[in-house]
Amino acid sequence: MTDHPTPPDTTTFPEHFLWGAATASYQIEGAVREDGRGPTIWDTFSHTPGRVRGGDTGDVAADHYHRVEQDVALMRDLNLDAYRFSIAWSRVIPDGDGAIEPRGLAFYRHLVTTLRAAGIEPVITLYHWDLPQALQDRGGWANRATADAFVRYAAVVHDALGSHVDTWMTLNEPWCAAFLGHASGEHAPGLTDPRASLRAAHHLLLAHGDATAAMRRAAGPEHRFGIVPNLYGVQPGSDRPEDHAAAHLIDGLQNRMWLDTTLKGQYPTDVRAIFARFSALDAIEDGDEARIAQPLDLLGINYYQQHHVAAGDGQGLGSPFPGGDEVAFLPSAQPRTAMGWGVEPDGLRDLLVRLHEEYGSPPIMVCENGACFDDVVDDHGRIHDPDRRDFIAAHVDAVERAIEAGVDVRGYFVWSLLDNFEWAHGYERRFGIVHVDYETQRRTVKSSGAWYRDHIAATKAAAAGATVSVVDA
Ligand code: FCB
Repeated sequence: MTDHPTPPDTTTFPEHFLWGAATASYQIEGAVREDGRGPTIWDTFSHTPGRVRGGDTGDVAADHYHRVEQDVALMRDLNLDAYRFSIAWSRVIPDGDGAIEPRGLAFYRHLVTTLRAAGIEPVITLYHWDLPQALQDRGGWANRATADAFVRYAAVVHDALGSHVDTWMTLNEPWCAAFLGHASGEHAPGLTDPRASLRAAHHLLLAHGDATAAMRRAAGPEHRFGIVPNLYGVQPGSDRPEDHAAAHLIDGLQNRMWLDTTLKGQYPTDVRAIFARFSALDAIEDGDEARIAQPLDLLGINYYQQHHVAAGDGQGLGSPFPGGDEVAFLPSAQPRTAMGWGVEPDGLRDLLVRLHEEYGSPPIMVCENGACFDDVVDDHGRIHDPDRRDFIAAHVDAVERAIEAGVDVRGYFVWSLLDNFEWAHGYERRFGIVHVDYETQRRTVKSSGAWYRDHIAATKAAAAGATVSVVDA
């Protein structure tokens, strides 16, 4: 990667394109025992020895719970149009489906009104993996009743915040919640049970559909509803038919399973076959697929990398995919981030075009994209992170190329606003465009953040200029 700032290209983005940054409740809030918040599966998991690197937990995280004003001011300084964050279910309903905790709702009401006062649009994610522990104790997502509890929770939050918030995303990356949580066990609740992972996947999808329908019944015309799967290009390692079959299998579980259900109202046949293989088909009841496929105003997508796969030898234990032991995952031939993820911006462009052409997708928001690199704080306290800046610039460019190819993309959110608790990797992995010193909680804008701030300003100036010249003409 070069050390020369990529000049912002400013011509294509529509005037109302949302430039934002994203976070999630458990990763930044801390304050896990305050104001009536109930324990979640991530509290339990992170406090279980051996689950998270270095024994890190989200107990304090970036202490955002106590720093709303400061963090919103930071967003304003970064020229953000929008901020995507998630609600902690257990702050609002501590045991998941019982009494409502007004102090939890008050916290989020304060956050959204502070954002609005700063001219920043709040984008809510209702579920970013922190399931109330009390629901897990009754089977969690593998239990169909959890979907009903989610519908009630969504309606409670929508009712409380709907007058301040237009954009509502039900689930973040249900693939991770289902398969990392229940098949590989890398995430909470840490199960290694393929059948449970497929049941969880289905109940997450059902929760999405039913909650969307419930919120829509009470919504104003300005409200927009969507879901945020994590999608990947899946490339076969060679032209061998076995490698193509492996790519098709992984594409089914990673992409089509979430897209065909939510956008077309049916599971792909090959994904159904995986349900059958692990005795999970009985989770899919008559009528469920129609309930999942609610009309959507937005499709959110998270994109980080592509998968490269080959036919495996059946030894690939630990693959997060149920049935994925038949597949070998190959390293990307491109430069890689500190996560080992290949830097493949063309994959984002191709994915956006695929969603447009193959699915006739609703308008798309890129809800997460970003990179982990090992940051160095210099003697002056500055963080110069050209690799992250180049990563973001290249992916913004990929979005622009997709728009030029006719894809309706409405926004781009960097992951992440702040360094934060990176799940099983703890605090060691940093994705922020703003550095967090976890000893002092001091925030410092990295050079990638400064680039993003300037890029947003330049893009807006160009869009406004274009509008003026159209009016002049
Ligand atoms: C995504 C998650 C987000 C963060 C990034 C790096 O899978 O949605 O919380 O961990 O990866």
